[in-house]
Amino acid sequence: MDNRPIGVFDSGLGGLTAVKQLEKLLPGESIIYFGDTGRVPYGSRGKETILRYARQDMDFLLSQNVKAVLAACGTVSSVARSVGEALSVPYIDVIRPSAQAAAAATKNGKIGVIGTAATIHSDSYRSALLRLNHKLQVFPQACPLFVSLVESGFVAPQDEVTRLVAERYLAPVRAAGVDTLILGCTHYPIIAPTIGSVMGRGVTLIDSGREAALAMAQALKDRDLLCEPGAPRQVRYFVTDTPENFMNVAELFLGHSVEGRTQRIDIEGDPA
Ligand code: DGL
Repeated sequence: MDNRPIGVFDSGLGGLTAVKQLEKLLPGESIIYFGDTGRVPYGSRGKETILRYARQDMDFLLSQNVKAVLAACGTVSSVARSVGEALSVPYIDVIRPSAQAAAAATKNGKIGVIGTAATIHSDSYRSALLRLNHKLQVFPQACPLFVSLVESGFVAPQDEVTRLVAERYLAPVRAAGVDTLILGCTHYPIIAPTIGSVMGRGVTLIDSGREAALAMAQALKDRDLLCEPGAPRQVRYFVTDTPENFMNVAELFLGHSVEGRTQRIDIEGDPA
């Protein structure tokens, strides 16, 4: 048993898709969330920058005495796996759990993958899928504008701007006839209703944040690292830009307020 918090991080709001699922699966667990809202997006940056950011993000979580780290970011998961795997605590990312869920869900063997430019360029999901089943056909598509739309709060299912962008990005994946689509960037599940309505009813959407949270819950159980029943619980959010926008979208998405639990930190200087 371990009463320390679970550390979850992302470049911004996207990792809340994992937090939402963790709160459902493990309601007694404490969580420290870090969203690098001052430096988002990561997905359009080069490898060295993403590696540096990932190291700083994980160091911050370790400074908060977390018992495990969840990289709730497709970009970090794709580019900085070596950083996570070198940690002294269990590390889970979004790639393998999402690939496993997609491989189990597809019936026609055609899987679409959408993500940031860095994620798609890394080929991380395709490699993970083909390792599971080399007969799968994988159709990747970068959708870089989605992250900015989510961070700017364009998340309502009826939002016309987001819908137009989704139609443009998703046309080739639709045309390929996929029956399963990995939302390979954790920001994307926040606009899943829009993506789902563009893709059509027959397409199963895989929420990478949710799948990673399920994998984290399993890893904690397997290692006997869950908290004791009745242990004091705390969920805290740290961001690197003004908390207001984060709090608004977080509240919309999580269905509860995060006010009073969200604080700004300086990740480049002394984070603690
Ligand atoms: N949520 C991050 C991901 O999953 C967003 C990437 C970005 O900051 O561009 O890739």
